[in-house]
Amino acid sequence: MRSIHSIFVILIGWLLFGAYFYYAYSFHGDNTLDHFFSFHSPAESLLNVVILSALVGSHITAYLINDRKKLLKKTGLSQSQLAQAAQEWKATFDSIPYGVILTDKDCNIIRSNKYLADKTALPSDDLSNTNKCYEVVCGKDKPDDCCPINKSEAFHKTRAHEFIDKASGKRFSESITPVYNDSGAVTSYVHVLIDISESREKETKLTESKDAFFNMLKDLDTAFRDLKSIHEDLIVALSNIIDAKSPWTCGHSIETTNYATAIAREMQMDHHEIETLRVAALLHDIGKIGTFDHILNKPDKLNSHEADLIRQHPLKGEEMLTPINGLGHLLPIIRAHHEKYDGSGYPDGLKGEDIPILARVLCVADSFDAMVSDRPYRSSRGKEYALSELRRCAATHFDPIIVNAFSQVLERSSSNDSGLMPIRNRQN
Ligand SMILES: [Fe+2]
Repeated sequence: MRSIHSIFVILIGWLLFGAYFYYAYSFHGDNTLDHFFSFHSPAESLLNVVILSALVGSHITAYLINDRKKLLKKTGLSQSQLAQAAQEWKATFDSIPYGVILTDKDCNIIRSNKYLADKTALPSDDLSNTNKCYEVVCGKDKPDDCCPINKSEAFHKTRAHEFIDKASGKRFSESITPVYNDSGAVTSYVHVLIDISESREKETKLTESKDAFFNMLKDLDTAFRDLKSIHEDLIVALSNIIDAKSPWTCGHSIETTNYATAIAREMQMDHHEIETLRVAALLHDIGKIGTFDHILNKPDKLNSHEADLIRQHPLKGEEMLTPINGLGHLLPIIRAHHEKYDGSGYPDGLKGEDIPILARVLCVADSFDAMVSDRPYRSSRGKEYALSELRRCAATHFDPIIVNAFSQVLERSSSNDSGLMPIRNRQN
């Protein structure tokens, strides 16, 4: 679209051209065009050229005027967009919740965002050019020792360091990235400052909490070990009390335990089963605490009433340990340690695999120790006799698989002298 100026120039050109033709028509009538394009005097020909040039020139001038206006309009629009973009960029730059600074190679601040102005309470304009970054940022009169710019070697990737701001006492992380020109030379640096005081404080608290938690776990572990040790000591003390009921059963609980756990290991039972058997063996005769001493120590054969009282000790033992929740898993073993494989035992007359496996093991170990020990009514029968009795009664009184396992243990023990070692002295 043409501008008013360009139309005006064109009209001037046509007006001059028209005025001249009117003037020429007044003198030459119908021969005006012939006269215009023919050569007469030099002055007249020059006038014709000027008039023609005025017409052509007005068009060219109008075109140039019009084009220049378009160019100015376009340039004006670009400047406006550029200014808008700069405003948007500055708003973005200032809204970043971190400090962003551009410095030259000598640490002079070229530009910084609002964050730094807020931090230093200085106007952004005052920060530019007249201040060194280390003065404003670190509050020092020279670059910090750990500042990457202070290092002699050049660096090409972002480097970071931490420092404590003297004014606020806050800890900052500063990452510095070099900016290059087309020749690859460093021209400036971009610094990004992040206040890490809060996150570092949380990190410290988390570490302290973690340490406190682990210390608590250690204390719990120690307490658990202490309790376990007390528990173990109480079990052994209890087994000693049981055995102390009669001089004839001294050491019986511990030695029965040694035999029983040796059988369990031979049968490749797991650690949990062996531990259960160990404690059950230590306490298996706890029910005898309620039995009269004169019956336990009687050198003669027991009458039927006395025998009945003795036969009650598995039930009494179960009853005595029932209130202790932590020993509940031992009760079926203690109750059944006098059951026999063929169902002729007591108190329930259980048969075969109805008898808990650990009770069957305990029965073999208990019977063996009883046979090799002195009793008020007889002396020790000896190992060989006891083992032959176990074998003779396998499948009747005892589980044959367990008797076989015990035989292996005893044979290995007697051959290499490294297996079972009875604690108390006895005549075998
Ligand atoms: Fe018993």
